[in-house]
Amino acid sequence: MSEINWTALQQAAKDAAAQAYAPYSKFPVGVAVLAASGKVYTGCNVENASYGGTICAERNAIAAAVVAGERKFEALVVYTPQTMLTPPCGICRQVIAEFFSPDAPVASCNHMQQQQQWTLGELLPAAFTPTYLANSTKVGA
Ligand code: THU
Repeated sequence: MSEINWTALQQAAKDAAAQAYAPYSKFPVGVAVLAASGKVYTGCNVENASYGGTICAERNAIAAAVVAGERKFEALVVYTPQTMLTPPCGICRQVIAEFFSPDAPVASCNHMQQQQQWTLGELLPAAFTPTYLANSTKVGA
């Protein structure tokens, strides 16, 4: 794995946050993911008048990468213009776990040039991953 350009990922996440559609929460989020190919993909949150239809920036960034053919990722950066650095929500952690290894870095940054970093394994220990389905014994099926 090559050196991660955090500055470029932060800028890409910030640019994505500028496109956020968040008229209800007024909480814009932008995400950049670094794929194993070296390419960077971005997403913003897209809210809905039926609030449950909202899709987070993390899942939109990963979906954009998947449709481009990516399946493996090296890093994820969240940008929010908040003094409290925002980690991915629970549903997004599960989606991240589908494609990222437990030691992959997940970072959050803001407009004050602060960054906090975790591994995916710290954010979602004992994750349910595709491995469990691959090793399923199909008892009773
Ligand atoms: N949101 C994200 O996009 N990512 C997160 O990890 C946290 C929450 C969005 C969803 C909603 O549009 C707004 O932030 C407030 O919850």
